[in-house]
Amino acid sequence: MRILSGLQPSGRLHIGNYFGMMEAALKLQHEGEAFYFIADYHSLTSIHDGKLLRSHVRDLAIDFLACGLDPAKCVFFRQSDVPEHTELAWILSTVTPMGLLERCHSYKDKTARGIAASHGLFAYPVLMAADILIYDSDLVPVGRDQKQHVEVTRDIAVKMNEAFGEGLLKIPTPRIREETAVVPGLDGQKMSKSYGNTIELFEEPAKLKKKIMGIPTDSTPVESPKPTEGSSILALYQLVATPADYDSMIADFQRGGIGYGEFKKRLLQAMTEHFAPYRERRAEIVANPSYVDHVLAEGAEKARAVARQTLRRVRDAVGLG
Ligand code: ADP
Ligand code: TRP
Repeated sequence: MRILSGLQPSGRLHIGNYFGMMEAALKLQHEGEAFYFIADYHSLTSIHDGKLLRSHVRDLAIDFLACGLDPAKCVFFRQSDVPEHTELAWILSTVTPMGLLERCHSYKDKTARGIAASHGLFAYPVLMAADILIYDSDLVPVGRDQKQHVEVTRDIAVKMNEAFGEGLLKIPTPRIREETAVVPGLDGQKMSKSYGNTIELFEEPAKLKKKIMGIPTDSTPVESPKPTEGSSILALYQLVATPADYDSMIADFQRGGIGYGEFKKRLLQAMTEHFAPYRERRAEIVANPSYVDHVLAEGAEKARAVARQTLRRVRDAVGLG
């Protein structure tokens, strides 16, 4: 089974990214042949600063490795090291109905948030389809907001197969992890960079403390039971605490007698402990910069060998070259 996923290098990772997509992808590296990449061509739709993009790519590579991506188990690479993706995207775009792209939520959401309405942003799902199809991927673990793009990919693959021969491209399946499909931010809305309500995966300890202790709460008196419904403290705690500790926090909410400050302290401790091993590993990787270059170079070579083969097959089928 071939598994593929990508993340855009668009700033520091937050725990919504981690629990929404990355954790599941990292688990899957032990269950099949995984290809994971840093989607820098995609980030060009929102970042027009070469130095910044390069530094985001590096940060994301370090974060992925720190969180347990094992380059001996999976192929880890930077998208732009495999330019075959863009050629396949062009070929796919010629069978992609405009209506299919016009229905995509992401374009509307992003332009509503102020990202320039470029052709690249509009055509982005076609590039994503190329990313997936060029590796004959079976399974694509993504966050819920990316599911529509995998469905578009399936539609495009079907169109290609209808036009150029059954079996030319493999039809992939999305895998969404429903339990953590929406990680709430500090304010209870979906955690997102654009809402400024994030906890970064490698937040400075002092900043992490400030953010967690500052989570807005209602004015229930200390001695009274606290509402569990819609509590971001509980929702975040569930992600990082053991099931027994989580159950005991629920019981303490319901019983009353403990203030929100105490619950926040427990959350802070669990969050710090959960990510401590990753933090250590991150420091080791940062101290050895050539390791990251080496991993990405090796990944690019392996990815490119597969991508070239698929592209050759497609070029033959459509009549190019
Ligand atoms: P942001 O909303 O912060 O800009 P992205 O859109 O770059 O995040 O998301 C990258 C990946 O992380 C996507 O697969 C997305 O589904 C997942 N993701 C982002 N925020 C969350 C969240 N709050 N809960 C679950 N998954 C998330
Ligand atoms: N569009 C995805 C995101 O914004 C990143 C991405 C690009 C991707 N190509 C992909 C994810 C292929 C899965 C498969 O998060």
